[in-house]
Amino acid sequence: MKAVQILMEEHQNILRMLKVIRTLSLHIFNTKEVYNEGFYQIIDFIKNYADKFHHGKEEDILFEKMSTELGPAIKNGPIFGMLSEHDLGRLFANNLQEALKNLENGEEEAKMDIIVNAIAYADLLERHIFKEDTAIFTFAEKQLKNETHEEINKLFHETEITLDAIYTEKKYIGILEELEEYCKTL
Ligand SMILES: [Fe+2]
Ligand SMILES: [Fe+2]
Repeated sequence: MKAVQILMEEHQNILRMLKVIRTLSLHIFNTKEVYNEGFYQIIDFIKNYADKFHHGKEEDILFEKMSTELGPAIKNGPIFGMLSEHDLGRLFANNLQEALKNLENGEEEAKMDIIVNAIAYADLLERHIFKEDTAIFTFAEKQLKNETHEEINKLFHETEITLDAIYTEKKYIGILEELEEYCKTL
């Protein structure tokens, strides 16, 4: 499979998790109950699937090649924008993790921080994915040389081993399906 197709398929899994995040956040809003275990699974998914596994390939391979080949206007414009959004996502994920700890320590108002950071993350990532799917990736497909596409595809293929793709996909799709099932019970 081509690199961009792989990234777009991963987007579909991330978008499904964003729906779970919104459902579990609404549940706190409605009932004041926090599904702690589920939120820790979400953090695991965000950090290891959405960030390390997915954003890692964008940052280290695709965006790196686009920046090198398409020049400073692309590197300092759209690519910089995408990298900044990845960083902002990391901030919301860390804040969410901290809020869960604060709640465990008895801070009632941490519930508010859980909702705010979870929803901010979901909103940011939904917009981010839309930009990549409709503009950044399409631009890369059209503008990069054929040999660069081949090189990117080869590097992506190598990450199947270095990032243990089969295990990672299986583990995180499993978590996603489990949480989707849980959401149906609410
Ligand atoms: Fe991205
Ligand atoms: Fe992405």
